[in-house]
Amino acid sequence: MQVKTTHRNKVKNDANQEKEYDIPSDVTARVSDFNFYYGDLRAVKDVSLDIKKNKITALIGPSGCGKSTFLRSFNRMNDEIPGFKYEGEIIIDNRNILDKKTDLIKLRSKIGMVFQKPTPFPQTIRKNIAYGSKIRGIRNKQQLNKIVEFSLKRAGLWGEVNDRLDDLATQLSGGQQQRICIARTLSVWPEMILFDEPCASLDPISTNVIEDLLVDLAKDYTVVIATHSMHQAARISNMTAFMYMGELIEYDNTKKIFEKPAQKLTEDYITGRFG
Ligand SMILES: Nc1ncnc2c1ncn2[C@@H]1O[C@H](COP(=O)(O)OP(=O)(O)OP(=O)(O)O)[C@@H](O)[C@H]1O
Ligand SMILES: [Mg+2]
Repeated sequence: MQVKTTHRNKVKNDANQEKEYDIPSDVTARVSDFNFYYGDLRAVKDVSLDIKKNKITALIGPSGCGKSTFLRSFNRMNDEIPGFKYEGEIIIDNRNILDKKTDLIKLRSKIGMVFQKPTPFPQTIRKNIAYGSKIRGIRNKQQLNKIVEFSLKRAGLWGEVNDRLDDLATQLSGGQQQRICIARTLSVWPEMILFDEPCASLDPISTNVIEDLLVDLAKDYTVVIATHSMHQAARISNMTAFMYMGELIEYDNTKKIFEKPAQKLTEDYITGRFG
């Protein structure tokens, strides 16, 4: 498909020289020749792909293939690990976010993350959602209330909690806690949200609720999800990336990957021959 290129913004790279990235308008993140190392271990190998705007991209592959490592690279969460090293480029909004000068607080607002285990702070629902705005300097109570309401509504939780915003978030059910974490991410106006096995600790009904929410969120945000569940990837994603031992084996429309994969290795994985 021919994609129209609309922005050729100029950016300054490390050496203060102007650099132009030519990214199509339907791409949120362009990954080029990307490698990630834990010390000597190269956990992600020469990956290049485009993450499509307002779509759900699923990362699938057997345990240890690098899904979480790759996912965490989009908001530089791997920087917390000693001995980490990135190579290549991840271009978001015409900047290489792997650049040493990247403001990680801003990046992590723009690229939110939700983990496998719901991780609300041991505080009230209201404080959980307002936290990100407060640390970014918003003090006005009315404004904070609006942000809390918007975020909880968008995470499909407002109807369930609007009369107990000052109760502890940790008292909610697992599925509700996961939506608190999603609302917390939404409260700082992200462009893209990363989900690492977001349903792995949830029952089937809560899983359905989260899956429906992800499909709905993709109308406004770009969604990337690492999942062990091929059924989940097939149900909700538009694009699927199959990874194996750190390499990107195949990346295509989800329907194509599950119905007519180009690679034998992909076929073997999705038909359950290994994994
Ligand atoms: N903090 C770390 N320090 C060193 N090596 C790590 C670290 N985290 C992951 N690894 C290694 O990097 C490789 C990729 O791991 P990663 O967690 O990204 O895989 P994954 O596909 O998410 O696996 P899973 O499906 O089990 O969640 C593995 O070999 C793993 O042992
Ligand atoms: Mg993982």
